[in-house]
Amino acid sequence: MASLKIDSNSIVGIVGAGIMGRGIAQVAAKAGHQVILYDNWDGAVGNAMKINEKELSRLVEKGKITQENKDKTISLMKPTMQINDLAPCDLIIEAIIENKEIKQDIFKQLEDICENVVIASNTSSISISALANGLKKPENIIGIHFFNPAPIMKLVEIIYGLQSDRKIIDDVYNLISSWGKKAVYVKSSPGFIVNRIARPFYAEALRIYEEGVSNFATIDESIRTSGKFRMGPFELMDLIGNDTNYSVTQSTFDSYYQDPRFKPSLTQQEFYQAGLLGRKSGKGFYTYEERDQLGRDDTNVVKASNHKISVIYVYGSLGVADELIPLFKKAGVKVIQNDGSGYIEFNDIKLFLTNGKMASEISQELHEKNIVQFDINIDYELTSSITIATSLLAQEHVSENVAALFEKIGKKTLEVKDSPALITARTIAMLVNEASSTVTNSVCDENSVDIAMENGVNYPIGPFKWLNKLGVGSIITILDNLEVFYKDTRYRADRGLLEKNIIDRFN
Ligand SMILES: NC(=O)c1ccc[n+]([C@@H]2O[C@H](COP(=O)([O-])OP(=O)(O)OC[C@H]3O[C@@H](n4cnc5c(N)ncnc54)[C@H](O)[C@@H]3O)[C@@H](O)[C@H]2O)c1
Repeated sequence: MASLKIDSNSIVGIVGAGIMGRGIAQVAAKAGHQVILYDNWDGAVGNAMKINEKELSRLVEKGKITQENKDKTISLMKPTMQINDLAPCDLIIEAIIENKEIKQDIFKQLEDICENVVIASNTSSISISALANGLKKPENIIGIHFFNPAPIMKLVEIIYGLQSDRKIIDDVYNLISSWGKKAVYVKSSPGFIVNRIARPFYAEALRIYEEGVSNFATIDESIRTSGKFRMGPFELMDLIGNDTNYSVTQSTFDSYYQDPRFKPSLTQQEFYQAGLLGRKSGKGFYTYEERDQLGRDDTNVVKASNHKISVIYVYGSLGVADELIPLFKKAGVKVIQNDGSGYIEFNDIKLFLTNGKMASEISQELHEKNIVQFDINIDYELTSSITIATSLLAQEHVSENVAALFEKIGKKTLEVKDSPALITARTIAMLVNEASSTVTNSVCDENSVDIAMENGVNYPIGPFKWLNKLGVGSIITILDNLEVFYKDTRYRADRGLLEKNIIDRFN
């Protein structure tokens, strides 16, 4: 019996020449493999070859590859509609319809056709252990999860099921890395890494909107600027499509036995059912006309008052927001620092970095009306805006005076209705919590989480880097306060974070 050959000389088969299959074929051929591209639908392979040819020509025009590279890549891809043509393959990557029974049926055929082959599924949501069930060689079944568009997105999740052979997983990891991709090891589990950890990015934004805290544009701008995300959650959902995004959330929710952490949104369901899918239907949370995204500028920016602010008092540490102090000094504001519980005071206003409580709750605790909270920022120096929430009890002009303070350091002030953890702190705390839970469940390690989120969904920094920046104590405080406020176990802190906190406090 021939042995498995997973190396640069492997013949790669692709089953399904749709969006993903054709892109994966291009990636493998670019890496120098002979690729056999199979689809059972008349037209699919021809279409796939045409698109690949067009994409490669564009790369030649841009000077990214030579004409010779292009010709060689094209010559290495052999389209076919005969499944038996896959016989010589060493590695087959399946990218057909997302249906367990149909995929298994193909796998059984492939086991008969190929003498010795590793069969990988590009599935986004089906268990690799389940796909291997009932096959002759369950140890040869793995997941290789590319992201769309496969030739561009760097991340590839290498997924092992309960019966997958560890040596095969290691060989495939090395092979995919040699294709210039960022490979990560993942234990088969619903949503794998990216589709699981990314859920709160959309879900918290939808909840914040549903609670009337703010509109789409303000939530998007707030997260974009303070978290340096390329896109806010609503514009990203419009890009992905509300149908796809809703169905991934729904299937993750069901896979985790209706854990409230993954609860889908009625708002998104309504958009999806209305056919307001986003860019592809011309209307979703925004309206799309040619290259315009209408509604994007509908942000709630506070107009700064004329109030003169020459001195502020800083009591205690502001945590990550201590970065603001040199900025105020540079802007000519006198900063007087004292011990205290961590806030800025000027006139009769107290300004706190959010800790997951509402500004109004702090008003109640301190018996003071003019309490304002502001959101976390990845970089207070570079950010263009700071988001605030003002106590329900605050007097008039408090927001405008805070806007005058931030204007001194060149920042625009976005305001949302008073709400626990505002926008970015709430979203990041939940992303970090899900990341921690993924590691607690032994799905992957911390480093893989950050690689996955930075390369699979282009987060500027991964959740564990955020955790390092904010500190585990702050994240747990935000989650605990959210859990108390909402009386919802959705916000329960993961045990991995609790363990880190114990160690942190001991040291
Ligand atoms: N589209 C994405 O963004 C994305 C991202 C990651 C993973 N995935 C996963 O990749 C897989 C493919 O998704 P896609 O978006 O490329 O789908 P697609 O609809 O674009 O392409 C599927 C192709 O498979 C072919 N096909 C269907 N049944 C077949 C069969 N029995 N035999 C041979 N060919 C068959 C179809 O003719 C079609 O050409 C799915 O499992 C999906 O979950 C999709």
